[in-house]
Amino acid sequence: MTGTAAVGEAPAKVIITGEHFVVHGAWGLAAAIGLKVRAEVWRGGEGEGLSVRADPQRGLSRTPDVGPVRTVIEELYRARNERPALRVKLTSEIPSGSGLGSSAAAMTAAVAAIAKLEDWPINENGIIEAAMVGERKIHGKPSGADVTVSTLGGVILFKMGESPHRVELPEEVKLVIVYSGGVRNTGTLIGRVSFARSARPRFFSILSESVSMLSELASRDLVELKLEELGRIITLNHTVLGSVGASNAVLDDIVELCISLGCYGAKLTGAGGGGSVIAIPRPGTAEQVSKQVGERGFKSFVVTIPSGGVRAWRREEDEREKRS
Ligand code: MEV
Repeated sequence: MTGTAAVGEAPAKVIITGEHFVVHGAWGLAAAIGLKVRAEVWRGGEGEGLSVRADPQRGLSRTPDVGPVRTVIEELYRARNERPALRVKLTSEIPSGSGLGSSAAAMTAAVAAIAKLEDWPINENGIIEAAMVGERKIHGKPSGADVTVSTLGGVILFKMGESPHRVELPEEVKLVIVYSGGVRNTGTLIGRVSFARSARPRFFSILSESVSMLSELASRDLVELKLEELGRIITLNHTVLGSVGASNAVLDDIVELCISLGCYGAKLTGAGGGGSVIAIPRPGTAEQVSKQVGERGFKSFVVTIPSGGVRAWRREEDEREKRS
């Protein structure tokens, strides 16, 4: 394609502790990982309108839903009394419906690319706010954790309505991610957990307070590289998530499998009900655990945290870099 173009890239995320409870005001801990969505944007001709397409990828379904990305872009232009005349292409390394934040990454990448193309001074908060429009379309009542982590990168201690706290790790930490194979719908899972809250409010509020404290403890354990303690926390968090309806038999089996392979702990990550499990391997065993999980028929890979946040550049910068 020709014409002025810009590119945005945004990372996937894992929630280490606190998913679902963050929607109800608890602290959560989340980290960006190295898988990315790339959004390429080109100015369209006059009257051409907006075209958003996702490049289908081979293997796991890695095709982000274009609907929410469209909504985000339309709203960005509407707020400026303009209409988009753009072509947008999304290419994702993140399996969709895997609990790894593929939609959030697609939206943040698209906003950052468009801001670069249009020369709009949108800072990190602006990217998060813009992408939240799409998150609301997908989930109804999102916490904002996914788009915040995809925008800022790193490891983030997160609570709705508070500034995100960056958690600085002294060195990289390896995690094993295991994909359960089941695609889930975040909105349905949020509804299920919210129902559990209304059915037993006191029980839920005790869990929520505990999860908040666990998130804070987990962030300290990460800073001090106390991975064994961190493992215990995340396994406990998995049980708590199961008690409010976010787990299922396959996820429980994967958690047990990872622990039987020597991991310090494991839990579902993201909305649950399918999607993925994260496990904390003992030092030096991540690749071996991932291989063994693979031999039991699950897709698995190793990631390191922290990873960077969203970035964007104009195509000419790309070309200049290649020539230099
Ligand atoms: C989804 O990745 C995490 C949830 O807590 C939803 C949210 O925070 O918006 C389930």
